[in-house]
Amino acid sequence: MYGDELEKKRYSSIEEIPGVTPSIAEKLRELGFNTVESLAMATIRELEQAGISDKKAFEIINAARSSVTLSFIRADELLERRQNVLRLTTGSKKLDELLGGGLETQTITEFYGEYGSGKSQIAHQACVNVQLPPEKGGLGGGALYIDTENTFRPERIVQMARFRGLDPQKVVRNIIWAEAYTSDHQMFLLENADKVIKENNIRLIVVDSLTAHFRSEYIGRENLALRQQKLNQHMHKLIRLARAFNAVALVTNQVMSSPEVFLSETIRPIGGHIVAHTSHTRVFLRKGARGPIRIARLVSSPYLPEGECLFKITENGIEDVTEEDRGEWG
Ligand code: GTP
Ligand code: MG
Repeated sequence: MYGDELEKKRYSSIEEIPGVTPSIAEKLRELGFNTVESLAMATIRELEQAGISDKKAFEIINAARSSVTLSFIRADELLERRQNVLRLTTGSKKLDELLGGGLETQTITEFYGEYGSGKSQIAHQACVNVQLPPEKGGLGGGALYIDTENTFRPERIVQMARFRGLDPQKVVRNIIWAEAYTSDHQMFLLENADKVIKENNIRLIVVDSLTAHFRSEYIGRENLALRQQKLNQHMHKLIRLARAFNAVALVTNQVMSSPEVFLSETIRPIGGHIVAHTSHTRVFLRKGARGPIRIARLVSSPYLPEGECLFKITENGIEDVTEEDRGEWG
Protein backbone atom coordinates (compact mmCIF):
# COMPACT_ATOMS: atom_id res chain seq x y z
CA MET A 1 0.00 0.00 0.00
CA TYR A 2 1.91 2.96 -1.22
CA GLY A 3 0.49 6.38 -0.66
CA ASP A 4 -0.21 7.06 -4.32
CA GLU A 5 -1.91 3.70 -5.00
CA LEU A 6 -4.55 4.30 -2.39
CA GLU A 7 -7.72 5.86 -3.49
CA LYS A 8 -7.54 9.06 -1.50
CA LYS A 9 -10.55 9.62 0.69
CA ARG A 10 -10.42 12.57 3.01
CA TYR A 11 -12.65 12.53 6.03
CA SER A 12 -13.13 15.75 7.92
CA SER A 13 -15.06 14.23 10.82
CA ILE A 14 -15.09 10.80 12.42
CA GLU A 15 -18.75 10.28 11.43
CA GLU A 16 -17.74 10.30 7.75
CA ILE A 17 -15.55 7.20 8.16
CA PRO A 18 -17.27 4.09 6.80
CA GLY A 19 -18.58 1.91 9.62
CA VAL A 20 -18.71 4.71 12.17
CA THR A 21 -22.39 4.84 13.02
CA PRO A 22 -23.72 7.67 15.19
CA SER A 23 -23.67 5.40 18.24
CA ILE A 24 -20.08 4.26 17.57
CA ALA A 25 -19.10 7.89 17.00
CA GLU A 26 -20.57 8.79 20.36
CA LYS A 27 -18.59 6.04 22.11
CA LEU A 28 -15.40 7.02 20.27
CA ARG A 29 -15.87 10.60 21.36
CA GLU A 30 -16.34 9.44 24.96
CA LEU A 31 -12.99 7.69 24.66
CA GLY A 32 -11.42 10.92 23.46
CA PHE A 33 -11.29 10.18 19.74
CA ASN A 34 -12.86 13.34 18.38
CA THR A 35 -10.83 13.76 15.25
CA VAL A 36 -9.77 11.66 12.27
CA GLU A 37 -6.15 12.44 13.20
CA SER A 38 -6.48 10.85 16.62
CA LEU A 39 -8.24 7.78 15.20
CA ALA A 40 -5.38 7.36 12.74
CA MET A 41 -3.03 7.08 15.70
CA ALA A 42 -5.27 4.79 17.79
CA THR A 43 -4.59 1.15 18.58
CA ILE A 44 -7.13 -1.62 18.03
CA ARG A 45 -7.19 -2.28 21.75
CA GLU A 46 -8.09 1.33 22.49
CA LEU A 47 -11.03 1.20 20.10
CA GLU A 48 -12.31 -2.10 21.49
CA GLN A 49 -13.32 -0.11 24.55
CA ALA A 50 -16.02 1.42 22.35
CA GLY A 51 -17.62 -2.03 22.21
CA ILE A 52 -16.64 -2.79 18.62
CA SER A 53 -14.95 -5.87 17.20
CA ASP A 54 -11.24 -6.14 16.38
CA LYS A 55 -12.10 -6.27 12.73
CA LYS A 56 -14.20 -3.13 12.84
CA ALA A 57 -11.58 -1.29 14.88
CA PHE A 58 -8.97 -2.29 12.30
CA GLU A 59 -11.10 -1.01 9.43
CA ILE A 60 -11.85 2.29 11.13
CA ILE A 61 -8.21 2.90 11.99
CA ASN A 62 -7.12 2.05 8.46
CA ALA A 63 -9.68 4.37 6.91
CA ALA A 64 -8.58 7.16 9.23
CA ARG A 65 -4.95 6.44 8.38
CA SER A 66 -5.49 6.59 4.64
CA SER A 67 -7.30 9.87 5.13
CA VAL A 68 -4.42 11.49 6.94
CA THR A 69 -1.77 9.70 4.85
CA LEU A 70 -0.03 7.53 7.36
CA SER A 71 1.09 4.24 5.93
CA PHE A 72 4.22 2.98 4.26
CA ILE A 73 6.17 5.91 3.10
CA ARG A 74 9.37 6.14 1.14
CA ALA A 75 12.43 7.64 2.75
CA ASP A 76 12.15 10.70 0.52
CA GLU A 77 8.66 11.25 1.91
CA LEU A 78 10.02 10.72 5.41
CA LEU A 79 12.62 13.33 4.63
CA GLU A 80 9.84 15.62 3.58
CA ARG A 81 7.95 14.95 6.82
CA ARG A 82 11.11 15.66 8.78
CA GLN A 83 11.40 18.88 6.83
CA ASN A 84 7.99 19.75 8.21
CA VAL A 85 9.55 19.72 11.68
CA LEU A 86 9.46 23.27 12.90
CA ARG A 87 11.35 25.04 15.66
CA LEU A 88 10.06 27.24 18.42
CA THR A 89 12.34 29.74 20.08
CA THR A 90 12.88 29.47 23.85
CA GLY A 91 13.62 33.19 24.11
CA SER A 92 17.37 32.62 24.47
CA LYS A 93 19.50 32.33 21.33
CA LYS A 94 22.09 30.28 23.17
CA LEU A 95 19.49 27.82 24.42
CA ASP A 96 17.99 27.60 20.94
CA GLU A 97 21.44 26.80 19.53
CA LEU A 98 21.96 24.11 22.17
CA LEU A 99 18.68 22.55 21.02
CA GLY A 100 19.66 22.70 17.37
CA GLY A 101 17.50 25.72 16.56
CA GLY A 102 14.82 25.72 19.24
CA LEU A 103 12.14 23.39 20.57
CA GLU A 104 11.28 20.82 17.92
CA THR A 105 7.75 19.93 16.79
CA GLN A 106 6.62 16.27 16.58
CA THR A 107 8.83 15.13 19.47
CA ILE A 108 8.96 15.52 23.26
CA THR A 109 11.43 17.86 24.93
CA GLU A 110 11.90 17.34 28.64
CA PHE A 111 13.32 19.91 31.05
CA TYR A 112 14.36 18.50 34.39
CA GLY A 113 16.00 20.02 37.42
CA GLU A 114 15.48 21.01 41.03
CA TYR A 115 12.92 23.55 42.29
CA GLY A 116 13.45 27.04 41.00
CA SER A 117 15.71 25.89 38.17
CA GLY A 118 13.39 27.48 35.59
CA LYS A 119 11.33 24.60 34.18
CA SER A 120 7.97 26.33 34.57
CA GLN A 121 9.39 29.66 33.42
CA ILE A 122 10.61 28.07 30.18
CA ALA A 123 7.15 26.54 29.75
CA HIS A 124 5.47 29.94 30.28
CA GLN A 125 7.82 31.61 27.83
CA ALA A 126 7.12 28.93 25.22
CA CYS A 127 3.36 29.60 25.59
CA VAL A 128 4.03 33.22 24.61
CA ASN A 129 6.62 32.53 21.91
CA VAL A 130 4.50 29.93 20.10
CA GLN A 131 2.14 32.78 19.26
CA LEU A 132 4.83 34.75 17.45
CA PRO A 133 4.91 34.52 13.66
CA PRO A 134 7.46 32.07 12.17
CA GLU A 135 9.83 34.89 11.16
CA LYS A 136 10.14 35.74 14.86
CA GLY A 137 10.69 32.15 15.97
CA GLY A 138 7.08 31.27 16.73
CA LEU A 139 4.59 28.89 15.17
CA GLY A 140 1.68 31.30 14.91
CA GLY A 141 -0.49 29.08 17.11
CA GLY A 142 -1.84 28.64 20.60
CA ALA A 143 -0.74 26.65 23.64
CA LEU A 144 -2.27 23.99 25.86
CA TYR A 145 -0.97 23.94 29.43
CA ILE A 146 -1.66 20.89 31.57
CA ASP A 147 -0.78 22.01 35.05
CA THR A 148 -0.39 19.46 37.84
CA GLU A 149 0.89 21.73 40.61
CA ASN A 150 -1.11 24.86 40.01
CA THR A 151 1.93 26.80 38.90
CA PHE A 152 0.55 28.44 35.77
CA ARG A 153 0.39 32.25 36.22
CA PRO A 154 -1.45 34.31 33.58
CA GLU A 155 0.03 37.48 35.12
CA ARG A 156 3.46 36.20 34.22
CA ILE A 157 2.27 35.54 30.65
CA VAL A 158 1.04 39.15 30.43
CA GLN A 159 4.48 40.41 31.51
CA MET A 160 6.28 38.23 28.96
CA ALA A 161 3.84 39.12 26.17
CA ARG A 162 4.32 42.87 26.69
CA PHE A 163 8.06 42.49 26.39
CA ARG A 164 7.67 40.64 23.06
CA GLY A 165 5.41 43.40 21.75
CA LEU A 166 2.32 41.17 21.70
CA ASP A 167 -1.16 42.13 22.85
CA PRO A 168 -1.34 40.51 26.32
CA GLN A 169 -5.11 40.02 26.12
CA LYS A 170 -4.79 38.11 22.86
CA VAL A 171 -1.91 36.07 24.20
CA VAL A 172 -3.77 34.89 27.30
CA ARG A 173 -6.81 34.07 25.16
CA ASN A 174 -4.70 31.71 23.08
CA ILE A 175 -3.58 29.61 26.01
CA ILE A 176 -5.86 26.82 27.14
CA TRP A 177 -5.19 25.83 30.72
CA ALA A 178 -6.25 22.66 32.47
CA GLU A 179 -5.43 21.65 36.01
CA ALA A 180 -4.86 17.91 36.52
CA TYR A 181 -5.86 16.70 39.97
CA THR A 182 -4.49 13.17 39.79
CA SER A 183 -2.39 11.13 37.40
CA ASP A 184 -5.54 9.52 36.00
CA HIS A 185 -7.05 12.93 35.49
CA GLN A 186 -3.85 14.11 33.80
CA MET A 187 -4.07 11.15 31.41
CA PHE A 188 -7.74 11.79 30.82
CA LEU A 189 -7.09 15.43 29.92
CA LEU A 190 -4.51 14.51 27.31
CA GLU A 191 -6.61 11.67 25.94
CA ASN A 192 -9.41 14.15 25.35
CA ALA A 193 -7.27 17.00 24.09
CA ASP A 194 -7.41 16.40 20.35
CA LYS A 195 -10.56 18.44 19.74
CA VAL A 196 -9.36 21.39 21.78
CA ILE A 197 -6.00 21.23 19.99
CA LYS A 198 -7.56 21.25 16.57
CA GLU A 199 -10.17 23.92 17.28
CA ASN A 200 -7.68 26.31 18.85
CA ASN A 201 -4.78 25.74 16.47
CA ILE A 202 -2.67 24.57 19.40
CA ARG A 203 0.99 24.17 18.43
CA LEU A 204 2.50 23.71 21.89
CA ILE A 205 1.45 21.15 24.49
CA VAL A 206 2.93 21.61 27.96
CA VAL A 207 2.71 19.05 30.75
CA ASP A 208 4.08 20.69 33.92
CA SER A 209 4.92 18.43 35.71
CA LEU A 210 4.87 15.17 33.81
CA THR A 211 5.82 13.00 36.77
CA ALA A 212 4.74 14.67 40.05
CA HIS A 213 1.35 12.92 40.38
CA PHE A 214 2.72 9.57 39.25
CA ARG A 215 5.51 9.86 41.74
CA SER A 216 3.29 10.67 44.70
CA GLU A 217 0.55 8.16 43.87
CA TYR A 218 2.52 5.04 42.93
CA ILE A 219 4.68 4.52 45.96
CA GLY A 220 6.78 1.44 46.64
CA ARG A 221 8.40 -1.17 44.45
CA GLU A 222 5.19 -3.16 44.05
CA ASN A 223 3.60 -0.24 42.17
CA LEU A 224 6.57 0.63 40.02
CA ALA A 225 5.63 -1.53 37.04
CA LEU A 226 2.13 -0.10 36.89
CA ARG A 227 3.44 3.46 37.23
CA GLN A 228 5.86 2.94 34.37
CA GLN A 229 3.16 1.39 32.22
CA LYS A 230 0.87 4.38 32.80
CA LEU A 231 3.64 6.90 32.18
CA ASN A 232 4.51 5.11 28.96
CA GLN A 233 0.92 5.25 27.79
CA HIS A 234 0.68 8.93 28.71
CA MET A 235 3.88 9.88 26.88
CA HIS A 236 2.90 7.94 23.79
CA LYS A 237 -0.37 9.80 23.67
CA LEU A 238 1.63 13.01 23.87
CA ILE A 239 3.91 11.99 20.99
CA ARG A 240 0.95 11.03 18.85
CA LEU A 241 -0.68 14.41 19.42
CA ALA A 242 2.59 16.24 18.69
CA ARG A 243 2.93 14.35 15.40
CA ALA A 244 -0.67 14.65 14.36
CA PHE A 245 -0.73 18.42 14.86
CA ASN A 246 2.94 19.21 14.17
CA ALA A 247 3.16 20.65 17.68
CA VAL A 248 5.93 21.04 20.24
CA ALA A 249 5.52 18.82 23.33
CA LEU A 250 7.28 20.25 26.37
CA VAL A 251 7.33 18.37 29.67
CA THR A 252 8.93 19.15 32.99
CA ASN A 253 10.32 16.68 35.48
CA GLN A 254 11.79 16.88 38.95
CA VAL A 255 14.97 15.22 40.08
CA MET A 256 15.32 12.48 42.62
CA SER A 257 16.63 13.29 46.04
CA SER A 258 17.60 9.92 47.40
CA PRO A 259 20.68 9.04 49.47
CA GLU A 260 21.90 7.02 46.52
CA VAL A 261 21.92 10.19 44.45
CA PHE A 262 23.92 11.94 47.12
CA LEU A 263 26.49 9.17 47.21
CA SER A 264 26.96 8.91 43.47
CA GLU A 265 26.80 12.68 43.10
CA THR A 266 24.64 12.28 40.07
CA ILE A 267 21.25 13.85 39.84
CA ARG A 268 18.69 11.76 38.09
CA PRO A 269 15.32 12.72 36.73
CA ILE A 270 12.21 10.83 37.78
CA GLY A 271 10.54 8.23 35.62
CA GLY A 272 13.42 5.87 34.90
CA HIS A 273 13.90 4.31 31.51
CA ILE A 274 10.41 5.01 30.24
CA VAL A 275 10.69 8.77 30.48
CA ALA A 276 14.33 8.66 29.35
CA HIS A 277 13.58 6.76 26.17
CA THR A 278 10.36 8.51 25.31
CA SER A 279 11.70 12.04 25.71
CA HIS A 280 13.59 12.70 22.52
CA THR A 281 15.47 15.65 23.91
CA ARG A 282 16.36 16.01 27.60
CA VAL A 283 17.69 19.18 29.13
CA PHE A 284 19.02 19.38 32.67
CA LEU A 285 18.61 22.79 34.29
CA ARG A 286 20.46 24.08 37.30
CA LYS A 287 20.86 27.37 39.12
CA GLY A 288 23.98 29.48 38.85
CA ALA A 289 25.82 30.35 42.06
CA ARG A 290 23.41 33.25 42.60
CA GLY A 291 21.13 35.61 40.73
CA PRO A 292 19.00 34.99 37.66
CA ILE A 293 21.50 32.89 35.72
CA ARG A 294 20.65 29.28 34.91
CA ILE A 295 22.71 26.55 33.26
CA ALA A 296 21.12 24.28 30.68
CA ARG A 297 22.78 21.01 29.76
CA LEU A 298 21.66 18.99 26.77
CA VAL A 299 21.82 15.48 28.17
CA SER A 300 20.33 13.47 25.38
CA SER A 301 19.24 14.15 21.86
CA PRO A 302 18.88 11.88 18.83
CA TYR A 303 21.42 13.80 16.78
CA LEU A 304 22.95 16.70 18.71
CA PRO A 305 26.11 16.60 20.79
CA GLU A 306 25.91 17.10 24.53
CA GLY A 307 26.64 20.63 25.59
CA GLU A 308 25.90 23.44 27.97
CA CYS A 309 24.81 27.03 27.81
CA LEU A 310 23.69 29.83 30.09
CA PHE A 311 20.44 31.77 30.08
CA LYS A 312 18.72 34.02 32.58
CA ILE A 313 15.25 34.52 34.01
CA THR A 314 14.26 38.18 34.27
CA GLU A 315 11.12 40.30 34.48
CA ASN A 316 10.94 39.98 30.68
CA GLY A 317 11.15 36.21 30.72
CA ILE A 318 13.85 33.89 29.36
CA GLU A 319 16.79 35.84 27.94
CA ASP A 320 20.41 35.49 26.93
CA VAL A 321 23.16 36.30 29.41
CA THR A 322 25.12 39.46 28.63
CA GLU A 323 28.71 40.38 29.44
CA GLU A 324 27.49 42.67 32.25
CA ASP A 325 25.53 39.77 33.74
CA ARG A 326 28.69 37.69 33.75
CA GLY A 327 30.52 40.48 35.55
CA GLU A 328 27.76 40.83 38.11
CA TRP A 329 26.81 37.18 38.73
CA GLY A 330 29.59 35.08 37.20
P1 GTP B 1 9.65 23.64 40.60
O1 GTP B 1 8.40 23.60 39.78
O2 GTP B 1 9.43 24.14 41.98
O3 GTP B 1 10.40 22.34 40.60
O4 GTP B 1 10.64 24.71 39.95
P2 GTP B 1 10.81 25.22 38.45
O5 GTP B 1 12.03 24.62 37.88
O6 GTP B 1 9.55 25.10 37.70
O7 GTP B 1 11.13 26.74 38.68
P3 GTP B 1 10.45 28.00 38.01
O8 GTP B 1 10.48 27.89 36.56
O9 GTP B 1 9.16 28.25 38.67
O10 GTP B 1 11.52 29.13 38.39
C1 GTP B 1 11.29 29.95 39.43
C2 GTP B 1 12.36 31.01 39.37
O11 GTP B 1 12.14 31.86 38.25
C3 GTP B 1 12.27 31.90 40.58
O12 GTP B 1 13.09 31.38 41.59
C4 GTP B 1 12.77 33.21 40.04
O13 GTP B 1 14.15 33.21 40.11
C5 GTP B 1 12.39 33.19 38.58
N1 GTP B 1 11.17 33.99 38.34
C6 GTP B 1 9.90 33.54 38.34
N2 GTP B 1 9.03 34.54 38.11
C7 GTP B 1 9.78 35.65 37.93
C8 GTP B 1 9.47 37.02 37.66
O14 GTP B 1 8.32 37.40 37.53
N3 GTP B 1 10.52 37.87 37.55
C9 GTP B 1 11.80 37.47 37.69
N4 GTP B 1 12.78 38.35 37.57
N5 GTP B 1 12.12 36.19 37.95
C10 GTP B 1 11.14 35.29 38.08
MG1 MG C 1 7.67 24.41 38.18
